[in-house]
This record gives sequence, structure tokens and C-alpha cells, in this order.
Amino acid sequence: MTILVVGGTGATGKLVLEQLLNRNMKVRAIVRDRLRIPEHIRDHHLLEIVEGSLLGFNDAELKEFTRDCSAIVSCLGHNLSFKGLFGPPFRLVKQAVKRLTTVAQQHGSSVKFILMNTTGVSNPEQNERRSLSEKLVVGILTVLLPPQADNAGAAKYLQVKIGKTNPHIQWVSIRPDSLIDLEEVSEYTVHPSPVRSAIFDPRKTSRINVAHFMAELIEDEELWEQSKFQMPVLYNSE
Ligand SMILES: NC(=O)c1ccc[n+]([C@@H]2O[C@H](COP(=O)([O-])OP(=O)(O)OC[C@H]3O[C@@H](n4cnc5c(N)ncnc54)[C@H](OP(=O)(O)O)[C@@H]3O)[C@@H](O)[C@H]2O)c1
Repeated sequence: MTILVVGGTGATGKLVLEQLLNRNMKVRAIVRDRLRIPEHIRDHHLLEIVEGSLLGFNDAELKEFTRDCSAIVSCLGHNLSFKGLFGPPFRLVKQAVKRLTTVAQQHGSSVKFILMNTTGVSNPEQNERRSLSEKLVVGILTVLLPPQADNAGAAKYLQVKIGKTNPHIQWVSIRPDSLIDLEEVSEYTVHPSPVRSAIFDPRKTSRINVAHFMAELIEDEELWEQSKFQMPVLYNSE
């Protein structure tokens, strides 16, 4: 079986590709520019690269890319440039989640969908309460920054539209806190909800730990069973 990765040229996505390939998994990556995949894995025999704009592919093409996939990982995010933050596609992540889950279901098999989300998005099922000032800041960010609304919409799509009883899609929305780059996987903890304010007192999460947790979710059925339909928060151990 193959793992489909979107956003595999991003700072986290590259590490996900590497984690999966190191575990001898077959990986298909849809990327805009294959040269943005690190050279040392670009020609890996287990890596198939599909080049093109993800949302530019039609549904038949996306369906083909999800064929034989046991898992789909999204590490998509809006590029941190004016165009990336404020230009189209305004709902990059949500649209990708919606379209990929729609076509993946058509194969009739069971697929794990793993979404890279953020502690900036709360999980209504965990009754996560925010202070008035946090609500104010998140509200302003949601209005002013399209990526915040996109991340919230993507998580909501999985929680509400796909839900917990879909016969073909099971999902996990991973919520890292403030992302940092470390060379090696380090100790990290996983929580059902943020343990501190994501807005006023964020903790750190290294991208490589996010990538490691994603790969573990794909490989470890017990971990998947414990985590499915949740929005786990990841922190590097302090
Ligand atoms: N920054 C933080 O502290 C933080 C904390 C928690 C969560 N997050 C979330 O984590 C996610 C990933 O973060 P990251 O730092 O790993 O992201 P990143 O390095 O910015 O990577 C973004 C990925 O999305 C792709 N992408 C962007 N626009 C696209 C488009 N229009 N069509 C197709 N692909 C597109 C990029 O492709 P190209 O290489 O072709 O540009 C790249 O592969 C984001 O959703 C972010 O909101 C961030």
C-alpha cells in the first residue's frame, strides 16, 4: 500500500517523507516543484513524485492519485508571503481535505487521513474553553488571516462532514504548538487538548516530532485506534 503526502515540500512535509521512506513505506508525493524535495530522497526507489498544482488536478486525476493508498497525510500550509497568506487559494487546506477524502472514499477501501493542524484551532468535542482575551485574538486572526480560517475549516470538515462513522475514512488532526526545527526526533508528549494558552503562553513543537508522530500513527495500529477521530496536541518535552 502507498501513503499519499501533500505538502511534502514544506518544512514539515519533507520530514514526513523522510520518516516514511526510512520505514520502507511506499510514498506518493504531489508537489508543485520536485526540486523542492531534498536531494537525498528525491530519487528514492520508494518515492513516486507527481508534479503539479494539487487543486489544479481534476477529480478523476485525484482519484487516481489516491488509488492503493492506505493513508493520506496533509502538511499543507499557506506560504508565509503576502501572496501565500492573502492570495488564492484562500481555502487551500480545506479544499484539499474535502477533495481528497471525497475521491479516496470512492475506492471503497479504508483510508487513514492525517491532517497537520494547529493549537490555534480548538476541539469543540473536548469542551476547550478560551478566555475572553484569547477569543478576541483568535477572532481577529480568523477575520484578518485567511490561513487561520482555513485550518479551522479543514479540521471542522473532518470532524463534522466525515465524522466518526464514515465506512472509508478515519482521521486524526494533529495540533502542534509553536513550530521549531530540530535535527533529531526528541521526547514529546501528546495531549487531548492544549495544556497552556496557545495564544499567550505557547509551548514548542519540533517539526520532526510532528513527522515522527504522523509516521507512528500510520505504522502503529494500536496508536491509531487510540487517536482516531481526535485532535491530539503535541509538545516537545520540556
Ligand atoms: N508556524 C507555526 O508555528 C505553526 C504551528 C502549528 C501549526 N502550523 C501549521 O502547520 C502547517 C504546516 O507548516 P509548515 O511550516 O511545515 O508549512 P510550510 O513549510 O509553509 O509548507 C507548506 C506546504 O504547503 C504547500 N503549498 C502552499 N501553497 C500551496 C498551493 N497553493 N498549492 C499546493 N501546495 C501548496 C507548499 O508547497 P511549495 O513548497 O510548493 O510552496 C509546502 O509544501 C501549516 O498549515 C501551518 O498553519 C504552523
